[in-house]
Amino acid sequence: MAYDLKMRVWRGDADGGELTDYTVQVSDGEVVLDALHRLQATQTGDLAIRWNCKAGKCGSCSAEINGRPRLMCMTRLSDFDQAETITVTPMRTFPVIRDLVTDVSFNYEKAKQLPYAELGPRDADGKRRMMQVDVERSQEFRTCIECYLCQDVCHVVRDHEDNKQHFAGPRFFIRYAELDMHPLDTHDRRALAQDAAGLGMCNITKCCTEVCPEGIHITDNAIIPMKERVVDRKYDPLVWLGNKIGLRSQDDEGRTEV
Ligand code: SF4
Ligand code: SF4
Ligand code: FES
Repeated sequence: MAYDLKMRVWRGDADGGELTDYTVQVSDGEVVLDALHRLQATQTGDLAIRWNCKAGKCGSCSAEINGRPRLMCMTRLSDFDQAETITVTPMRTFPVIRDLVTDVSFNYEKAKQLPYAELGPRDADGKRRMMQVDVERSQEFRTCIECYLCQDVCHVVRDHEDNKQHFAGPRFFIRYAELDMHPLDTHDRRALAQDAAGLGMCNITKCCTEVCPEGIHITDNAIIPMKERVVDRKYDPLVWLGNKIGLRSQDDEGRTEV
């Protein structure tokens, strides 16, 4: 059944903007992105929106809907009362390019700082082996669609522009954790996670986990274990002594730390 939806959409660019009211005809079963596409088609041909898959998989249609970071293509109109005005604004943590499109290159810069996996030597038969439990542990992290909603909601950078230089954010903490938990990888990223990525600035509020459309347990399965690994490295007296006298030590995955 069709009805008239009241929308309030942020229009503007890097120099400023404002919320603009629209009324658009929508149908039951549509999503917020459908409503915006109809606005584009019928009233505001210059409305800037980033989207691609319309299936919750490309991570490009991130915005704030009634103040909450969400994917526009996965937010059903039936989640709202038909009489309610739906407000759509760009992600606040990133600079606006135009209308609902933000510049998310902060995230690409943070990705560049993270060393990729470098695997150790193969077994004698030329294969590499790892436990199934280790394979499964990283699968959750690999479902990330890089929508950056977790980055958007994190108060460390959302309200404090100065922190961006020192803080990689939850999307990259899961990447650090994924690689650090890889049993065949030879890098030790714990110092980097703590110092360059600012893991210590995270105070485990779990807001990132709450907005993740993939349901990744960012805090419980990545950030907290990563913090424990960093603490082990820094404060375990045996590791500390080994480091001091130049001995090699092994972490709980059996990797060698120099
Ligand atoms: S748990 Fe940490 S990374 Fe996640 S939103 Fe809170 S402060 Fe940011
Ligand atoms: S962890 Fe979740 S919220 Fe963050 S970028 Fe990946 S999919 Fe998006
Ligand atoms: S358009 Fe791809 S996630 Fe929404």
